[in-house]
Amino acid sequence: MRHVIEIEREGSGPSRIMIGSVEECLPELTAGVDPIVITDEMVAACYPELVGRYRHIVIGQGEENKNLETMAFIYRRLVEEEADRGSFLLGIGGGIVTDITGFAASTYMRGVRFGFVATTLLAQVDASVGGKNGVNLDGYKNMVGNFNQPDFVVCDPAMLRTLPEREVRCGIAEAIKAGLIGSERLFARLESGYEAVMDDSEVLSAVIREAIEIKASVVADDFTESGRRKILNFGHTIGHAVEKCCRLYTHGQAVAIGCCHAAGISRRLGFLSEEDKRRVVSAMERMGLPTECPVSARELFEALRHDKKRCGDGMSFVVLDTIGRCHVERLSFERLAELMEVVL
Ligand SMILES: NC(=O)c1ccc[n+]([C@@H]2O[C@H](COP(=O)([O-])OP(=O)(O)OC[C@H]3O[C@@H](n4cnc5c(N)ncnc54)[C@H](O)[C@@H]3O)[C@@H](O)[C@H]2O)c1
Ligand SMILES: [Zn+2]
Repeated sequence: MRHVIEIEREGSGPSRIMIGSVEECLPELTAGVDPIVITDEMVAACYPELVGRYRHIVIGQGEENKNLETMAFIYRRLVEEEADRGSFLLGIGGGIVTDITGFAASTYMRGVRFGFVATTLLAQVDASVGGKNGVNLDGYKNMVGNFNQPDFVVCDPAMLRTLPEREVRCGIAEAIKAGLIGSERLFARLESGYEAVMDDSEVLSAVIREAIEIKASVVADDFTESGRRKILNFGHTIGHAVEKCCRLYTHGQAVAIGCCHAAGISRRLGFLSEEDKRRVVSAMERMGLPTECPVSARELFEALRHDKKRCGDGMSFVVLDTIGRCHVERLSFERLAELMEVVL
């Protein structure tokens, strides 16, 4: 069984996202091209047969490799491979590999075609969809990059079997976020808990599909993030503050905490019901995700105040109206402090 979601692109055919077996989807999607694969050490070790089928460039794993040195390494390897304007780059990996591959393909010789096989749940439901590519600079996340969508993305749920549970939970936090902003049905699927989702391939495929559909529809409305795309930041404003204040958390864990705080703020603003707020927290708990962090609200607030997305004396904040529906509010820092129960 396969499922295809298409996102329109300006000037070329749609970007196609295929949920199904990589062995079935990839030959069809790469017919007539001789892709050069970009992957990382871990994915190359887990899928030697798939990667070995193509010429390939292997980068180190981890966020510390998402930088301009790795880009230079890739450009040089592409020159060695005699890649030209007609070459096709295929990123096989998680969000780091897809962000890097998209940027390398967008810039090498002013742009070559590219596609992804997304191998983490986070890459499948989030990073590989939406056309944001790029790398970090001097420790600042995603400082250099561009918007450009791949020809295709393959999401094979079976590839998640080799993924460490901690990484799976990161993707689940993003899928819960997608449900919260766009689909009560998706959220309800995820309320059933970790095993109910991960041990049932049909439920897992449906979760991936519905999360992608939400992101795809938001992105189609606002490709370059001037308006509606901001709602994808739900749970991330406080999530980023959590990441900054307690480094022991993964991005997904920080997002889970951020979603719970944002649900609390939505409640205090009078939009979200108490019952829905409780559902958000208990869904995270059932997925084994944290809902609180050990640092004080004051510390989180100070981190927020220095967030790069602040704007004057306040910031845009995504609030929930109900599960599956949200909007953006502009909140002054004074009001935010009140809502976070911080005494200034
Ligand atoms: N472009 C976007 O819109 C967007 C959105 C969200 C996140 N991101 C970016 O995505 C990155 C995080 O992505 P991620 O969580 O996928 O991290 P990742 O790419 O580092 O993958 C996590 C780990 O899992 C390993 N791995 C990948 N697939 C595997 C598999 N099938 N089996 C076993 N191991 C596997 C990787 O080697 C890595 O060690 C961040 O850099 C973030 O900025 C981008
Ligand atoms: Zn995220």
